[in-house]
Amino acid sequence: GMSWIITIDGPTASGKGTVAHWVADKLGFHVLDSGALYRLTALAALEEGVAADDVPSLTDLAANLQVQFADYRVWLNGVEVSDAIRAEQVGNLASAIAVHAPLRAALVARQRAFAQPPGLVADGRDMGTVIFPEADLKVFLTASVEERARRRYNQLINKGISANVDALLLDLQQRDERDRTRAVAPLVPAPGAVLLDTSAMSAEDAAEFILAQFAQLD
Ligand code: C5P
Repeated sequence: GMSWIITIDGPTASGKGTVAHWVADKLGFHVLDSGALYRLTALAALEEGVAADDVPSLTDLAANLQVQFADYRVWLNGVEVSDAIRAEQVGNLASAIAVHAPLRAALVARQRAFAQPPGLVADGRDMGTVIFPEADLKVFLTASVEERARRRYNQLINKGISANVDALLLDLQQRDERDRTRAVAPLVPAPGAVLLDTSAMSAEDAAEFILAQFAQLD
């Protein structure tokens, strides 16, 4: 195609973001971190005191987010929030509000607008199932919950944030459960998705695997 789409879906802390950036860099493609849009909506809700069950207000926030992305950085209303949206509190609220269908609908066009030549690597939960069902290559990236908790722990410690592996593991299990069992856009492999378990694989090797799959498309 003239504009390629690669989707990478998977659970929290499976390494999707790192792998997506790696693949996009290699191919010179754009990248969409769709989770960031849910996190940005959550952050805006926290800042404006909007409750997690106030669906009309949350939907309004999602529809009117003033967002800019550049490299690994993101701005909300002109203020850089790259670190702020990574906080566990924001991730948990993002997961809680992501169950609301109207809010999700308000983010669809914004996500699809990222599909620009020469191509896009989109990571999230429903990239291959809902947002880009026509994608050229769909990947479902997983890793054991223990390994994901270890990775999240190391990320936090490297940022100088104190963390507890057992608490993180519980948190990941709860978030996975909610993402998998929700009625709208649940976390499931898209039809035709390539399954990739990265429990014993580096992000670089996962990216190389995806690039090899992409190279085989005709
Ligand atoms: O991927 P990340 O952990 O940043 O996403 C935060 C939350 O946003 C997820 O737990 C999930 O509930 C939600 N999300 C979603 N659909 C996406 C991406 C993220 O529901 N495409």
